[in-house]
Amino acid sequence: MTSFASDNYSGVHPAVLDAIAAANVGRQPAYGRDEWTGRLQDVVRRHFGERATAYPVFNGTGANVVALQAMTTRWAAVVCTSTAHIHVDECGAPEKVAGVKLLTIPTFDGKLTPELIDLEARGMDDVHRAQPQVVSITQTTELGTAYTVEEIRAICDHAHALGLRVHLDGARICNAAAHLGVSLREMTTDTGVDVVSFGGTKNGLMLGEAVIVLDPDAAPHVDYVRKASTQLASKMRFVSAQLEALLGTDLWLTNAAHANAMAQRLATGLAGAVDLPRPVQANAVFARIPRAAIATLQETYEFYVWDETVDEVRWMTAWDTTPEDVDTFVADVRRVLAASVVEA
Ligand SMILES: Cc1ncc(COP(=O)(O)O)c(C=O)c1O
Repeated sequence: MTSFASDNYSGVHPAVLDAIAAANVGRQPAYGRDEWTGRLQDVVRRHFGERATAYPVFNGTGANVVALQAMTTRWAAVVCTSTAHIHVDECGAPEKVAGVKLLTIPTFDGKLTPELIDLEARGMDDVHRAQPQVVSITQTTELGTAYTVEEIRAICDHAHALGLRVHLDGARICNAAAHLGVSLREMTTDTGVDVVSFGGTKNGLMLGEAVIVLDPDAAPHVDYVRKASTQLASKMRFVSAQLEALLGTDLWLTNAAHANAMAQRLATGLAGAVDLPRPVQANAVFARIPRAAIATLQETYEFYVWDETVDEVRWMTAWDTTPEDVDTFVADVRRVLAASVVEA
């Protein structure tokens, strides 16, 4: 079954598998004192600047939970969108594990702005209110859009002026960089982002993400928080080797650019035939099609219904999506839609 369900339905990129095999030699110190994790720090600093430090973790929820907990006190709140993965797709882990209250804001396009942040970044010094300490944004957003560099800078400037730090959930940060044509540093360190959850799993890794601390003052005890949150890998070399394979070459960019190109191919192929309500800026295509057509297509293809109330579906592409996968799908969507018109 061809899948457009999520980019984490993809396999492992062969270069990443090779890197895991290459790391499988001899004995190495555990818990991050290995050669691979050491080299990863150099690679990460090349991308994010001299002050950056990477803390590899097992998964994206773990990265977010470790980052948010390390950035906050026990009485903290985090401002995010109502569509944020940390709010809707992490089973309450930020609340339960990180112990933060999420203050959510509805948006049209998945993006916060300084004005929207002000709706919840208030009540400072009111002991009755969980204290806003962090703004968390997602790049690319859960609605497939990408913040521009200027938009991120405006959010960081505003948050910092209010005394808040900025966390960026970068499960798809590489897709955003490929779309914007900017470096990871230009999008994060240079705009004022404090901590990044760097995503690898959706972009060719077997498993593994990293909390990348860009300003050490923003997350002073992150190493203890990672352990206390069960995200410290003892055989860390195998996670770090994957991240090194991705970031030590241009694989991070070629994989992401390919996934984005496949989404563009899909959107272009369906233009005129399907209502595509959101801009296609990375590797997600949202479409509104009749409910019966959704059911027929799901007999052959895996994908998620995003919003049942408006029959909106989400089709994700990934580094391993082929042009043939897309072209066959486009032809099938067009055929199913044409048949549903005839039946109607
Ligand atoms: C925006 C976003 N953040 C974080 C994650 C990480 O999730 P997981 O814990 O499944 O690795 C995902 C995965 O779907 C995501 O889309």
